[in-house]
Amino acid sequence: MIGLASGLFAAVPSAAADLSADAKRGAKAFQTCVACHSLEPGRHMSGPVLAGVLGRKAGTAKDFMRYSDAILKSEVVWNERTLDEWLANPGKMIPGNEMAFPGIPDARARRDLIAYLKAVSEGGEAPRGPRMPRLKTDSTEFGPDAGRPVLVGVGMRGDRAAIVFAGPDEIATMVKSGC
Ligand code: HEC
Repeated sequence: MIGLASGLFAAVPSAAADLSADAKRGAKAFQTCVACHSLEPGRHMSGPVLAGVLGRKAGTAKDFMRYSDAILKSEVVWNERTLDEWLANPGKMIPGNEMAFPGIPDARARRDLIAYLKAVSEGGEAPRGPRMPRLKTDSTEFGPDAGRPVLVGVGMRGDRAAIVFAGPDEIATMVKSGC
């Protein structure tokens, strides 16, 4: 179980409860990915955006034009098992791919990272399971004060919530383990 500091847990009991205890460690592990990947929907870097990656077929992030043939032809669908295999050794799973990353040997670090990807993923094409809250940041004058994240409704029918933090570094520090 994981709770959010500052009473957010109380504000969104069901949503906050969905964040697994591994996600906090996973957020740190994701630092090794941020040079090439964003979790902001639609934002591609040298690697494709990873928002909503769970449940999506490999090589199908919208508008990412630089996929290798290897990944386009792989027929892989990203889920916890395939992501684990990919992150352990991308070159072994899909030979000829262009992700310049050697892999993460530690199984627990991979599991944490996948839990984090799952927690921040929009859900998108992965309809199974409860909806996750989105974690966003806004450091402009319209954003929340430092250390005081706010909860806002998002989505066409107001059926999702986003937690907006003042900056990306706050997300990792304010999500704490508990039980
Ligand atoms: C040096 C840049 C770089 C780093 C670091 C990196 N990636 Fe990638 N990643 C890429 C590129 C480029 C691709 C596309 C590969 C291809 O088309 O062959 C990719 C593809 C992926 C895909 C497949 C996405 C899709 O749309 O099918 C996943 C999942 C992924 N990376 C996860 C990660 C994770 C998690 C990390 C951190 C542990 C990471 N990557 C680190 C560059 C990187």
